[in-house]
Amino acid sequence: MSYGYFDDTKREYCIQRPDTPYPWINYLGSQDFFGLFSNTAGGYCFYRDARLLRLTRYRYNNAPADAGGRYFYINDNGDVWNPSWQPCKTPLDKYECRHGLGYSVITGARAGLSVTHTAFVPVGDTAEIHRLKLHNESSEKKAFSLFSFVEFCLWNAMDDSTNFQRNFSIGEVEVHGSAIYHKTEYRERRNHYAVFAANRENNGFDTDRESFLGLYNGFDKPQAVLEDKSRGSVASGWAPIGSHRFEIALEPGESTSVIFVLGYCENPANQKFEAPDVIRKEPALALLAKYQTDEQVDAALQALRTHWKDLLSRWQLFPGDEDPRMVKVSRMVNIWNQYQCMVTFNMSRSASYFESGIGRGMGFRDSSQDLLGFVHLIPERARERILDIAATQFKDGSAYHQYQPLTKKGNAEVGTGFNDDPLWLIIGTAAYVKETGDWGILDEAVPFDLEEGTEAPLMEHLHRSFGYTATHLGPHGLPLIGRADWNDCLNLNCFSETPGESFQTTANFESGVAESVLIAGIFLYCAPDYIEMCKRRGETEKTAQAEQAVRAMKEAVDNHGWDGGWFLRAYDAYGKKIGSHECEEGQIFIEPQGFMGMAGIGMDDGRAVKALDSVKERLDTDYGIMLQQPAYRTYRLNLGEISTYPPGYKENAGIFCHNNPWVSIAECTAGRGDRAFEVYRKIAPAFLEDIVQLHRTEPYVYSQMIAGRDAARHGEAKNSWLTGTAAWTFVNISQHILGIRPGFDGLIVDPCLPSGVKGYKVERLFRGVRYIITVDNTAGMQKGVKSVTVNGKPVSGEILSDGGDAEVTVVMG
Ligand code: BGC
Ligand code: NOJ
Repeated sequence: MSYGYFDDTKREYCIQRPDTPYPWINYLGSQDFFGLFSNTAGGYCFYRDARLLRLTRYRYNNAPADAGGRYFYINDNGDVWNPSWQPCKTPLDKYECRHGLGYSVITGARAGLSVTHTAFVPVGDTAEIHRLKLHNESSEKKAFSLFSFVEFCLWNAMDDSTNFQRNFSIGEVEVHGSAIYHKTEYRERRNHYAVFAANRENNGFDTDRESFLGLYNGFDKPQAVLEDKSRGSVASGWAPIGSHRFEIALEPGESTSVIFVLGYCENPANQKFEAPDVIRKEPALALLAKYQTDEQVDAALQALRTHWKDLLSRWQLFPGDEDPRMVKVSRMVNIWNQYQCMVTFNMSRSASYFESGIGRGMGFRDSSQDLLGFVHLIPERARERILDIAATQFKDGSAYHQYQPLTKKGNAEVGTGFNDDPLWLIIGTAAYVKETGDWGILDEAVPFDLEEGTEAPLMEHLHRSFGYTATHLGPHGLPLIGRADWNDCLNLNCFSETPGESFQTTANFESGVAESVLIAGIFLYCAPDYIEMCKRRGETEKTAQAEQAVRAMKEAVDNHGWDGGWFLRAYDAYGKKIGSHECEEGQIFIEPQGFMGMAGIGMDDGRAVKALDSVKERLDTDYGIMLQQPAYRTYRLNLGEISTYPPGYKENAGIFCHNNPWVSIAECTAGRGDRAFEVYRKIAPAFLEDIVQLHRTEPYVYSQMIAGRDAARHGEAKNSWLTGTAAWTFVNISQHILGIRPGFDGLIVDPCLPSGVKGYKVERLFRGVRYIITVDNTAGMQKGVKSVTVNGKPVSGEILSDGGDAEVTVVMG
């Protein structure tokens, strides 16, 4: 069954029925203010921090799904419906939802009335705009009511959903005309409030949920809407909401619109009130004045489109022929993959329909990796992010695993000890320097753990990162794993027997022995870039030290990291092998096969290819590559969380999409274009539209996990949107398969293509210059570049234009 289609020219995904296999959402907002918005108008919004400054309430894990949103109700002479179908679910004559870049448009029509709801966050403002265009398509005059509805969150989403003994007494609002102000806790330490306003006079309002819904009614049966009568309620405690009622009459063919603004406003701490207990409204009035007319809204929407068009024009693929694979690749790489990279950069792993927005902060490792898919879009923001991340590093090179987006402070509750973390900073920084040529960033003074007086150049932070791994080695000379490495669930020092104890923060058995072969792979992967940076800065001693550490690490991997058919995964707290053919379960893991291949380890002696063949043979499925096999059937004290998941889910042999691109990149490194592409294609959303009923999550973005072969629901995806898969697949497709990769001195063009791709063109902005790169593969190669010319002149090595557009022709052969 089809639920929609890609509209590539408009850069939209068009959903044609509301009852999608799971809510299919979009993100509104690009910098400080964000909204999650589903295809049935569900979701919520927040300012900067989804936990601490949440404007509207959402009910996770509700039945029915997706409860809470920006809802608009029509009461057409007793016929009550929503243009977004939910929550009333009254059948619609027409429904369509178009998710675009930073905006969504839902159209619902019934009995001759068509309503188009456009939702977006204007660039530079801290508000959602919701415009409802109402059109009388019938031949009769129509008179009906339009109701709005949002439910306010009492700011801290965690308290909001738990601390009812307090919450039920603190809710406060003010109402002025069609502007409803939510000011809970403003009387004390908050100097911010929310406003929900409309651009026309209302015929009634409500601000108290119970008055509006009725105590025993759900969102699908609001008493006020059913009776077509607002109560004029002013919330005092309980649950503050914002609802307007408008009486609208339309002649046949006539249209009108109502514009709603749902915004966040702040006052200076010493200018909070305009009269005792009356909030100062200037910031809200200034905001509302910007969105009073359709022209203003259209202009803001246009500005948003231009914003995205400019951003995406920095990297565009033009598939040469009508190869249907390349059409799908381009819709991913040109639109949705880059878009998802922006979203993961902004959200980290905080707020999605699977991440509640109250849990995790910015991950040190996650954010460093998210950078990889984002850095070409807005390098200035990537720069700032790198410096923020580095400032949470400890003096010894280790790192807080997470930091809070508002304070930028390391999160003490989760703490440190994930021994892969430090290395990702090197990988993120190298990607930034290669993209921008901004070597100056390495001299930026950055503190350790935000402690004043400890500032050192960013390069010093990288030294400590590299040094941390190089000096924290176990009995086999391999890196100690600590709490966990990239795989948060491989907890080799945890030994937890207490229900509910966190596997990530508990170490009941600090073995000082458990080692990670994956960290060795990450170390060897980032070492060449790190060494290059040392060299170019003339740091000879560091260079020599690093080269020595690399030699030692390679030796350790050769002697203790190879299992005969693939790379081992780890050694546990007793020094026993994990990810070996000798193991009963968990014989082979995907991560080291990918990373060692990416690092080029074993490329010269056949081990890398052998490992990749083992991956294909033992871990591959129709829906992607599983994390390991055989799945763990029982809980194992020495392995931790990985063995808590039922077989086939999450890290226990799920298809954990994040590291599928590692394998694809390793295949490119080995020159096997067909297989690299097969790995890419199996998890790429645009290729999965036909199995969407099985896959369930949005067909335009990656999900973190697809159930593996051992699971009853093999092929079903979960955790869409906030996953490192977005960044890594962008790196894979853009830099390795299509093969256009920034180097320290310029662009490197080295494609690795599946059979049958005859050529393509990529336009890419690089260090301020537009490169128009034409790849000619009439020779039908998978890998191999015969010649490169820039503006007609033959070149070898990395390409750098000395200014002006660069026409690059690459002939494979
Ligand atoms: C999940 C991981 C996640 C970790 C940290 C685990 O339960 O399986 O994917 O990274 O929690 O929050
Ligand atoms: C999700 C986490 O955000 C990420 O940091 C981790 O690497 C993966 N899970 C694998 O455990």
